[in-house]
This record gives sequence, structure tokens and C-alpha cells, in this order.
Amino acid sequence: MLHSATLNVMIKAAHRAGRSLKRDLGEIENLQVSLKGPRNFVTAADRRAEEIVRQELAKARPDYGFLGEEGGAREGADKTHRWIVDPLDGTTNFLHGIPHFAVAIALERSGTIVAGLVYNPANDEMFIAERGKGAFLNDKRIRVAARQRLAEAVVACGLPHYGRGDLALARNEIAAAQQHFAGLRRYGAAALDLAWIAAGRLDAYWERDLSPWDLAAGSILVREAGGFVSDLDGDGDIFAKRQVVAGNDTMHRELLRLLKEAGKEAVTP
Ligand code: IPD
Ligand code: CA
Ligand code: CA
Repeated sequence: MLHSATLNVMIKAAHRAGRSLKRDLGEIENLQVSLKGPRNFVTAADRRAEEIVRQELAKARPDYGFLGEEGGAREGADKTHRWIVDPLDGTTNFLHGIPHFAVAIALERSGTIVAGLVYNPANDEMFIAERGKGAFLNDKRIRVAARQRLAEAVVACGLPHYGRGDLALARNEIAAAQQHFAGLRRYGAAALDLAWIAAGRLDAYWERDLSPWDLAAGSILVREAGGFVSDLDGDGDIFAKRQVVAGNDTMHRELLRLLKEAGKEAVTP
């Protein structure tokens, strides 16, 4: 498949960072049994991957700005373009040797995400999308699932970390979802949750307290695959409130409704 110059640059960067992460994953499997554990090693792997992505992107587009989870924001001479990068989404999985993590790269142009890539090096799945051009998994066109019945839907969510977020609200939302959907999942890599919606594997997904690098690449994948992405109030600007609800038209709408009801119950004394 012929890719645009922009996607070629992104793919090359993701492949290089992915190779590094995959090598490091092998090492982590060894460190798992050591008393010290792999935590410091993972921090280094994460930074290494971001540096690889940053350098590779900068080689091809030296003027673009860059926002990375590890290194923060760097302004570019070109104020209209910015890369948004999570070099390792799914750190906890990676730390435990669970092969469900990704490199996520998005390109923002004047405040709009125009290209996105989510790459899982462990199974070599590469999800890509460009604005107006559709979404692809390993160069095959993907679409969100057509499922309309909640009772047949498999839905992913995030879970608030202990001591962070509103636990009562989360419990209410989870209970509501369990009552209506066929299955609820917590995979631990937001970018892949979104990519899997785009591929029709998951029917819907919601999570709070996310950062731009968790959301940017996956959101364009879902939209280009024919799905809907919003915050929990149904607003399309997911970055402002750092939340996401995604799915096909029906699942997105129904999940929004369920979450709203669960929220009302959570504040009733
Ligand atoms: C995390 C993952 C996880 C989500 C967290 C994110 P990280 O990103 O996407 O699924 O629940 O909120 O912070 O830290 O692994 O890059
Ligand atoms: Ca992340
Ligand atoms: Ca990360």
C-alpha cells in the first residue's frame, strides 16, 4: 500500500521505537524473577523509545513542534504542526511482560488531529489513519463494528487508580455497564482500546483522566473508521476534559446515556 509522506515518516519512527521496546520486553521477562524488579529498566525503555521517535520525526520534519509524555513540550519553528507522542502506552502491561502496549504518534495541524498511528510491536499490529482517508490495520481497511444490540457488545473501560479519581462513581458506571453489555474489559492501554474500536473488535470504550498523548492517535482512528468520539457530555473536544467515550453511532449514544444515569445515581444520597 502506498502511504503519504507523513505516514511514512510516522511508520518508520514507530517501527524503530517498536524494535527497541520489543528488545526491552525480552529483558523484562528475565528481570521479572529478580528481586529488584524491572521498574527502573522500564523507565529507561520508555525514555529511549520517545527519544527514538522524536529524533526520527525531527529528521524528516525539523520545524514541527513536539509533545511527548516523557520529555514534555518542545516548540517548533512551524507553529501550525505538532507531533503528539506516547512512546509506550500500557506501561503497567509492559512492566509485567504483558504483550499489550503501543507506540502512539499523532500529527496535529492548527489544533486538529490530521494523522494517527498506534503500533503494538509485540504482535506487529500497525493501525494508521489520515483525515478523510479512512483507517487501516496492517494496510487493510478497518471499520467500527456494526453491532446495535447492547447485549451483544463488548466494552472496554479504564479503572481509577487507588486513591485517585471518584471510586464511587466508577463503581456505579461499571455496575451499569455490566448490567447492559455482554462483556466488560480493562486492557490497560488507552491508545489500543481506541484502535480496537476502530478495528471493530470492541464496541465501545470510556475512560477519564487521560492525557492528549493517550487520546490523539486513537481518536482519529475511530473517527476515520466511521465511529464517534466525545467526552462524557457528548462534546467532541476530548482534550479539554481529558475523558473519552467512543463507539459506533448507537453504542456511543447508549454508553453516554448509561454513564449519565450512573453519574446521577452516584450523587443521590
Ligand atoms: C495509561 C494507559 C492506561 C490508562 C491510563 C494511562 P501509560 O498510559 O493508557 O490504559 O488507563 O490512564 O495513563 O501510563 O501506560 O502511558
Ligand atoms: Ca499512555
Ligand atoms: Ca506512556
